[in-house]
Amino acid sequence: MLDAQNAAAAPPPVIHREDYRPPEWLVPDVELHFDLDAAATRVRAKLSVQRNGGHRHPLKLDGDGLIPVAVRIDGEPQADAWRMDGATLLIDLPGDAHTIETEVAIAPEANSQLMGLYASGGMLCTQCEPEGFRRITFFPDRPDVLSRYVVRMEADKARFPVLLSNGDRTGGGDLADGKHWAEWRDPFFKPTYLFALVAADLQANRDSFTTRSGKPVDLAIWVAPQDLPKTEHAMAALKASMAWDEKVYGREYDLGEFNIVAVADFNFGAMENKSLNIFNSRYILADPDTATDVDYDGVAGVVAHEYFHNWSGNRVTCRDWFQLSLKEGFTVFRDQSFSADQGSAAVKRIEDVRTLRAAQFPEDSGPLAHPIRPESYMEISNFYTATIYNKGAEVIRMLHTMLGPDKFRAGSDLYFDRHDGQAATCEDFVTAMEDASGVDLGQFRLWYSQAGTPRIKASLVHEPAGGQARLTLEQMVPPTPGQPDKQPMPVPLRVALYGEVTGQIFGGERLVMLAGAHQEILFEGIGERPILSINRGFSAPVIVETDRSSADLAFLSAQDNDPFARYEAMQQLMVNTLVGAVATGKPDHRAVIDAVRETVCNSALDAAFIAEAVLLPSESFIGDQMAVVDPDAIHAAREALRQELGQELEDEWRASYAKTHANRYDYNPAAKGLRRLKTVALGYMAASGAEDASVIAFRQFRDADNMTDRQGALGTLANSAWAERAEALQMFYDRYRDNGLVIDKWFSTQAFSTRDDTIEVVEALARHPDFTLTNPNRIRSLVGAFSMNQKHFNAASGRGYRFLADFVLAVDKLNPQTAAKLIPPLGRWRRFDTARAGLMRAELERVLATPGLSKDVFEQASKSLG
Ligand code: TRP
Ligand code: ZN
Repeated sequence: MLDAQNAAAAPPPVIHREDYRPPEWLVPDVELHFDLDAAATRVRAKLSVQRNGGHRHPLKLDGDGLIPVAVRIDGEPQADAWRMDGATLLIDLPGDAHTIETEVAIAPEANSQLMGLYASGGMLCTQCEPEGFRRITFFPDRPDVLSRYVVRMEADKARFPVLLSNGDRTGGGDLADGKHWAEWRDPFFKPTYLFALVAADLQANRDSFTTRSGKPVDLAIWVAPQDLPKTEHAMAALKASMAWDEKVYGREYDLGEFNIVAVADFNFGAMENKSLNIFNSRYILADPDTATDVDYDGVAGVVAHEYFHNWSGNRVTCRDWFQLSLKEGFTVFRDQSFSADQGSAAVKRIEDVRTLRAAQFPEDSGPLAHPIRPESYMEISNFYTATIYNKGAEVIRMLHTMLGPDKFRAGSDLYFDRHDGQAATCEDFVTAMEDASGVDLGQFRLWYSQAGTPRIKASLVHEPAGGQARLTLEQMVPPTPGQPDKQPMPVPLRVALYGEVTGQIFGGERLVMLAGAHQEILFEGIGERPILSINRGFSAPVIVETDRSSADLAFLSAQDNDPFARYEAMQQLMVNTLVGAVATGKPDHRAVIDAVRETVCNSALDAAFIAEAVLLPSESFIGDQMAVVDPDAIHAAREALRQELGQELEDEWRASYAKTHANRYDYNPAAKGLRRLKTVALGYMAASGAEDASVIAFRQFRDADNMTDRQGALGTLANSAWAERAEALQMFYDRYRDNGLVIDKWFSTQAFSTRDDTIEVVEALARHPDFTLTNPNRIRSLVGAFSMNQKHFNAASGRGYRFLADFVLAVDKLNPQTAAKLIPPLGRWRRFDTARAGLMRAELERVLATPGLSKDVFEQASKSLG
């Protein structure tokens, strides 16, 4: 508490990338001894330390909330050789190599931050990334200090029959007083942030995997006994990931055991601790009755992500936290590629781009914009962002596109060979790609240092006389905080031209490398008017502005042979229509209705693609296209278009619904696509105002044999004024009241509702007995979800803003990381009218004026005021 008050008095220090210095002391070996107990755990640590370089500085051991019970140097208590400097333990050491022993007492059940050692649902577990290890024991808590760990745990055997840590179990047995012990050794050098332990009463779904060189690996997913049947999907995804990394990257698993533990209270999605991944249970548990298809995909994607970190993150780790995208961007790219290979690559790409645009583009154009390799931070936990993760993945994807798969693979092989066992930098990665491919990536490095989404203006002029087409590209990288002037960046654009009359593609697709601010590309042999298909597959994370007509966009939405470009043309047509409707008040829906009809009726397209293509852009994405966001006008315009699409294409929606409705549940890509289209069609039938829509929705809800259909229908019901609405919500609650993950859906479905009473409902839900501030999933399901409801969060009264700020302050007292993640929606004030902007700023100011703020919230709130 004292620390927090100091933080309010003086702003927290800013850490700069350029201040990086190698560690002064190394710790090649560490032994940890845990006497585990929820109320009082004793931690003894024995560190072998080695002076690194010729300095005379004391050994500095990070601590956070730790009070040393004892300190020994080379086996002797030495009271005058150590002192505390704030939370840091300083020890003067005469020689170059010593043994340091410390002992501390910590209280896991009082740890509401969920960083360090904490209690969740009766078990004890750890979360150390990025700086949680210092809440467990004194240590140089930085990713470039790599150690070999021996971990001995003692605990009550009845309460904690399972004792896990990293590496291989090397011993264990019973002790007096009903206790037992276990010892684990991890042969791999690793930084503190990859340390983990679990003490729990769980059971394992066990399986095995044989690596391609013939080594057996024991796999186990640890959950509460009643959840065992829900671990099959995660297990299948784990084995598929292991095989995929061998096949695509030549990377084998390197230990005899791989454990995954699911916990209910977790700040993030999951954590890649060496051989002991710890997961938010929402990314492990799935069965048809409780998890949607989207949840199934989330489970597989996150299991793959954490598994892939074993190479991209653990074997090669990060030198410092400014390099976070080195492991996260690359690993997201790897998990996206894996998921694309498991099902429809086209639909996966559409989903990934939708996520990027929803989460990263607003970040990149707002007060929290930062490059994928930031220059400074106050609190590193605030930098686990869509920019580091998702834009980071796009940057790696561009390398893949520019180099081609073979040279990219040669580069990744070189990177892993060169840096195995090291703490590396983003620069090391790019250099390896460059060395292996022979491609000069000098300019490309700007993608690491410059924030902001580049805007590309593209215009195509046909010169019929010479049979030529001239594509003019102009690039502008917008200013971002701390970066007023930008240089143009290399942008790989996959481009194709279609003949308007023949519908033929001229000479196939080509990769245009836009290298500067301005470029002209000449296409020869263009005998008819060409239509421009650009940034196909979303080959670069940029905004492309074209002067293509509605007719050209409609053509591409029906003809383009790149599925992403086809989806994109439809989206552009819809955005143009909606932005035009908001601006003029005179909607012209014709082109969209015709294009949607053509797509819905195209029997050559699969259902999953149709469902994605005919979905209107979200209200916030429409807002992002406007100079000043008018949430009410956007909502009204979008609803009007939805209604007209519903009415004009009523027969088509009914036909789609009938076609998809009869299917029994099965989990495969085709069945998933049909379920998706079914609920999209239901949404349009409801929007049309058809009299039987409520009956159809309720029937889908009540008779569903899976959560995708049930939640899909509930979403439609929750938006409606139908009599069935309250009954459905009550039935859903009653059926799933004991399942926290499904109750999260019950909260978020209501928080996303378009109904006019949404804010009252949300405020009432915050007083519901099932609402709690101690579970991050629950906070996100109500408060986080509501802050994404553009219309109601931005109510002109400011009530939504006040609600959010109240929760930032309440959550900050318990869990600063989770509190700080709620702030960004308030930082969007520049995008709104002055009245709303003033109300948003007032809430940010109220937050900042509160004594005792965490570093996390201070940084996000002060930067958001900008
Ligand atoms: N490295 C984790 C991942 O990307 C992220 C993570 C897990 C995390 N827990 C965290 C980040 C806590 C910050 C705080 O998979
Ligand atoms: Zn990760």
